[in-house]
Amino acid sequence: MNSPPPVPALSQEEQKVQVGRAAIAHVAKGDIVGVGTGSTVNKFIDALATIKDDIRGAVSSSVASTERLRALGIPVFDSNEVEELAVYIDGADEIDGRGYMIKGGGAALTREKIVAAQSRRFICIADASKRVNTLGAFPLPVEVIPMAARRVIRQFARLGGMAQVREKDGAALVTDNGQHIIDVTGLRITDPLGFESEVNQWPGVVTVGVFAHQRANLCLLGTPSGVQTLRFD
Ligand code: 5RP
Repeated sequence: MNSPPPVPALSQEEQKVQVGRAAIAHVAKGDIVGVGTGSTVNKFIDALATIKDDIRGAVSSSVASTERLRALGIPVFDSNEVEELAVYIDGADEIDGRGYMIKGGGAALTREKIVAAQSRRFICIADASKRVNTLGAFPLPVEVIPMAARRVIRQFARLGGMAQVREKDGAALVTDNGQHIIDVTGLRITDPLGFESEVNQWPGVVTVGVFAHQRANLCLLGTPSGVQTLRFD
């Protein structure tokens, strides 16, 4: 007897599409949805457009996401207009087994943390490559006030980290908030809560890209065979 043909493994791109679509199940009728930033979130925004008449709109974490939402006819509210959001949906650069994350690969970490903080639940959408045991292999993004960049780089060196200012088109990248990003390699972040609290109080640090105090409640993780749900609460 012939066995059925093997199901082809999902590519990273297909995993992003699937988790973006799966996140729609976590959006309720009449919601204003917190929306993150990045290539995975772009798939979610595309899926959100298919139910746009059922939601009130979105609070966005970046200029790029705002433009995509508006282009698809989804109203975008200012964060200050909305007291609390039921759900925030965003990607991650790394996520560990407790729902702690590194974010900011797209330089939107400060607004992402603000919208996450005003949301009751954080649903992370990520492809399989983002799941790690310990945070730190991905260069840690930190948004800094430009005049503090060198000092913050020296402080990371004392922790064993090598940091450099992120560049775009040959100059320091400027965030949506008019600040710079430094990316830090060589860290192994075993205490994400303590690490986030410590670095956040260094003078000139706007936001560190460890999301431990704003960790994910749930992760929709793309795998080669489909979407896996990881619960952290
Ligand atoms: C942007 C982010 C993104 O969520 C993170 O970089 C993941 O992006 P992608 O879905 O493109 O892999 O934190 O600041």
